[in-house]
Amino acid sequence: MDIYAHRGSSGTHPENTIAAFYEASRLPIYGVEFDVHLTKDGELVVIHDETIDRTSDGMGFVKDMTFAELRTFDFGSWFSNKCQGELIPTLREVLDVFSKTSHHLNIELKSDIFPYEGMPEKVVEMVQQLKLDTRVVISSFDHGAIRAVKKIAPHIETAALFMEVLVDPLDYLGNIPADALHISLPSAVRSSMRKVVEEDAVVRVFTVNEEKYAATLRKIGVTAIFTDHPEKMMNYLARNS
Ligand code: G3P
Ligand code: MG
Repeated sequence: MDIYAHRGSSGTHPENTIAAFYEASRLPIYGVEFDVHLTKDGELVVIHDETIDRTSDGMGFVKDMTFAELRTFDFGSWFSNKCQGELIPTLREVLDVFSKTSHHLNIELKSDIFPYEGMPEKVVEMVQQLKLDTRVVISSFDHGAIRAVKKIAPHIETAALFMEVLVDPLDYLGNIPADALHISLPSAVRSSMRKVVEEDAVVRVFTVNEEKYAATLRKIGVTAIFTDHPEKMMNYLARNS
């Protein structure tokens, strides 16, 4: 079972910052996950929420600010005084952290609240420009966005994100279409979702921070888990293999 660092190593460093991604990049784990939004002036930036309120010393919506404005805020000190000075990273800066590693890269398009017109096209363009086509999976709760990705670049892996339990997940996946299912921890243990695993579909589960749940999911046979504590989880799974 593969491990992805969720928002970088977000349990030990401020989520979705270069510090969290450097920490993930030094670990021999399979992959890393991060969230993408679009600024007012069209820059792809990596942050989880639609606003900067929770993870910076500023306030407001990402979509209403230019990249230059967003760069004036501190994205580290909310987590710890020692992390002061972290800036909101661009997608390009995050991809560059992993330019010399072989980590698999999960780019999550956060267009499920605000539509961020043109975001799938911009992300695919950057992935192709950096020749990362076979190293990424592009996921979203906005299934229209991953349908758009498949239309532009059918060879790039996509994943549909779900909070809900679906009766026939593979049927739905085929309809979008998308290649993989990224599902929440509680739904992963339900029988319809287990059936998907039995049919050898790619299933990745978020967010798994407790070791006992990781052990259960490994037994079920899921492809991967997303965790905020990648180093701790890596050591636990190695000790208990
Ligand atoms: O991509 C897996 C997971 O990150 C989805 O939920 O809210 O943490 O982005 P969220
Ligand atoms: Mg995410």
